This record gives sequence, structure tokens and C-alpha cells, in this order.
Amino acid sequence: MMLEQIKSITSEIDNVVINSKDDLENYKLKYLVKKGLIQGLLLQMKDVPKEEKKEVGMLLNVLKKKAEAIYDEFENKFKEQEANTPTIDLTLPGRVSNIGSKHPVTQTIDLMIEIFRDMGFAVAEGPDIEDSYHNFDALNFPPDHPARDMQDTFFIKSDNEELVLRTHTSPVQIRVMENMKAPIKTIMPGRVYRNEALDATHLAEFHQIEGLYIDENVSMSELKAMMMTFAKKLYGDNLEFRFRPSFFPFTEPSAEMDIRRPGTKKWMEVVGCGMVHPNVLRAGGIDPEKYSGFAFGFGIERITMIRTSLDDIRALYENDIRVLKQF
Ligand code: DAH
Repeated sequence: MMLEQIKSITSEIDNVVINSKDDLENYKLKYLVKKGLIQGLLLQMKDVPKEEKKEVGMLLNVLKKKAEAIYDEFENKFKEQEANTPTIDLTLPGRVSNIGSKHPVTQTIDLMIEIFRDMGFAVAEGPDIEDSYHNFDALNFPPDHPARDMQDTFFIKSDNEELVLRTHTSPVQIRVMENMKAPIKTIMPGRVYRNEALDATHLAEFHQIEGLYIDENVSMSELKAMMMTFAKKLYGDNLEFRFRPSFFPFTEPSAEMDIRRPGTKKWMEVVGCGMVHPNVLRAGGIDPEKYSGFAFGFGIERITMIRTSLDDIRALYENDIRVLKQF
């Protein structure tokens, strides 16, 4: 009985396959630990008849030594292997990690903030949900102005006051004037919303950067010089631009600057600007007899189109990774 068991375990360990440290650990658990098979046989020694004890004891002892020797052999082998394995395998292929990047529109905002900072502008922000006083009235929009129409503006249901998704960043001008004393030199980036049909140059949700400069004796020629300096800083000397007279309720006189899209004959309007209307200064608590100022509002997506040469504004929001990856 005992002899058979010893034989069968001996042949088992003679043929044991140990390929890994895990195999070795399992081998140890099966044969060598206190609750293992060999220890089990040793415990049965007391039941072996006297005359067999000597032989069985000897064979069991041989088995035990053998089992331990096998363990030691593989343990050493794995230790040696480990010592000879370099911790860094320079032949392995590198792990590719996909690093994200800033969206081209965000890049444009960062770049514009940097350029205007260099020209001495601070940065301010206002709310996306605006009351119609700041979005329209304080900016000198007459009560029947078409921009107040449902067709152009997203109105928000509200019981006590009329709320809108701001249609431009100009209301932040009023908020800045309400909170600061002149002189003021601030830009105001943000998202704006219009109830508008989408096409290659129009989105219903886009970004603007508003600018406001108020001091004594600020003139229109300074405004023009600043817009030109900005455009050159952004695009370099080769850029073609033109100024046209325009109309906005909150500026008088008003102008627009167009930039020629690189490689085309097409002009694109990128900024509205003008001298801040005295009514607007008054609404912001600033004395128009003492101070004058200019304001401007850039369309950031349009600047981005010129910067990236994308010819459809919608490409900026489809977020096709093959497009975005290029910038
Ligand atoms: N708020 C105007 C718009 O969204 C852009 C604009 C024009 C802003 C003239 C200004 C400005 O500050 O002076 O179309």
C-alpha cells in the first residue's frame, strides 16, 4: 500500500513539468508543504508493520530528498533567469499613447488673449444666459430692433425678467463698465448663440472676443491702428485686410474689418468695431463728456478658418479627428 503510493509519487515527480514560477509554487504546495503529499506519507509511517518499516522509511526518505532537490533546482534556475533578464527590454516596441491637443478654436482664443495681453488688455468674462437689458437695452438697441426678434435670438422662459442666450459678447462690456472705473482696457472672450441657419460661414453657437478700451481722448485712428497691428501679429505682414464703414447700435461711427482668405479672392468679415456710443458709456456709468472709447468684437471661428485654411466653419464642430489632428 505505502510502497505503491511512494512509487506512484516518485514517478509523478520524475515527470513533473515546471515551466514557470507559478508551476513551481504549485509543485511545492502539492508535495512539499506540511499538508502536502510527502508529509502525509510520513504521518502514515506509524501504521506500517514493523518488518516493512526499514524499507518503506528508506524509500520515503529518498523520495523526500528527490522532491526537495527538484524544487531547489528549479528555484535556482528561475532566480538565475531573473538575474540575467535586463529590467528594460530595449527591443520591445514602444507603447503608443494618444495625446490630445487643444481644439483649434481654443488655440485661437489662447493666441488672441496672448496678443491682446501684450497690448495691455486684461481679460474678463460674463454669463452665457443674459438679461435682455445687458444684451440689448444697455447697448442702445431700439425697442423694435430686428435682433430682438425670435428669429435671431434664443429666448429663455422666465417669469420675472426677459432672459436670452447672449447673442454676442458685447453685454460683457456693460458688466465691465458697471464694475470698474475708467480707464478700462479689457478683452472678453466667450460663447454666443444665434437662432441662425447653418452654412459654411455661420453657426448657431460660436465664440467671440469682445474688446473695450476707454480713456480720455481715445480716437478712431487708434482703433484702426490697433486692429491692423493685431491682424499683422496674428497672420504676418502678407495679410490683406480692408476697413468698411458699418452700423451697430452701440458704436458711432462703426466699422468692419475684412480679411482676404489666403489663396482666394474671397473677403471674410472678422471683426465689428467702432467708437463706443455715448448712451452705452452712460449705461455703464461712465461720463461721455470726460471719456471716450472704442470697442470691437471678433468672430473666433472665422479667425480660426483663416488660421487653418479650413473653408467650412462647420468642420470646426464636426470634430472629425482627421481634421482636428492637423492643427
Ligand atoms: N456685437 C457685434 C456682433 O455680434 C460685434 C461688434 C461690433 C462688437 C462692433 C463690438 C463693436 O464691440 O464695437 O455682431
